[in-house]
Amino acid sequence: MGTKVTWLGHSGFVIETGAHTILIDPFLTGNPVAPMTADDISKADFILLSHGHGDHVGDTVALALEFGATVLGNPEVSNWIQAQGVEKVATPNTGGTAKLDFGTVKMTLAFHSSSMPDGSYGGSPNGLLIKLNGGLTIYHAGDTALFSDMQLIGEAGIDVAMVPIGDYFTMGPGDSIRAINWLKPGFVLPMHYNTFPVMVQDAASWANRVTSETDAQSVVMDPGNSHEFAK
Ligand code: NI
Ligand code: MN
Repeated sequence: MGTKVTWLGHSGFVIETGAHTILIDPFLTGNPVAPMTADDISKADFILLSHGHGDHVGDTVALALEFGATVLGNPEVSNWIQAQGVEKVATPNTGGTAKLDFGTVKMTLAFHSSSMPDGSYGGSPNGLLIKLNGGLTIYHAGDTALFSDMQLIGEAGIDVAMVPIGDYFTMGPGDSIRAINWLKPGFVLPMHYNTFPVMVQDAASWANRVTSETDAQSVVMDPGNSHEFAK
């Protein structure tokens, strides 16, 4: 049975395994490219957060309260979420792995910054290495610059990678090509681009570079679109 991945625009995704619905960085309210509102989300068992910035925490609190979802983030992020009234949280820190009903999430390095929407300390930013039980290994890079330890993350055997290509706040298209060659994913999805004027990129020319310069297969979606992976 396959895994359905829907892009919410920016760094937001919905992963549907059949058994569980997992949201990553669900930034809908205030997101100019969001294909739907938070009210249109119909299920969330888990919400995974890469770091504390508002364009990643987004609608997490409202969605977690509505669906009783478990929220995973670094300790500072998760404790902040819990202080907003969310009961179930997982609090792994960089290098650590959390075991959840759908599989495991390892908090990888990310080179960026992190503060909560109210300006309080957000801990270290992370990438998320997600291993679905009997299914895909997914790497969501979060917001990050290129860094050479991506080679080590790639040793996990990544089926699907989500990498930022927007530049300005994160690495841009050129660095993402180098990242893809270090991560060696089967499929790669671009994210964190076109949301705001400073991060406009040409995803089609990026995809051409992925084809000619890496062994990965690009999957470029419009916000709201889904891709079904066989595994
Ligand atoms: Ni950020
Ligand atoms: Mn961001």
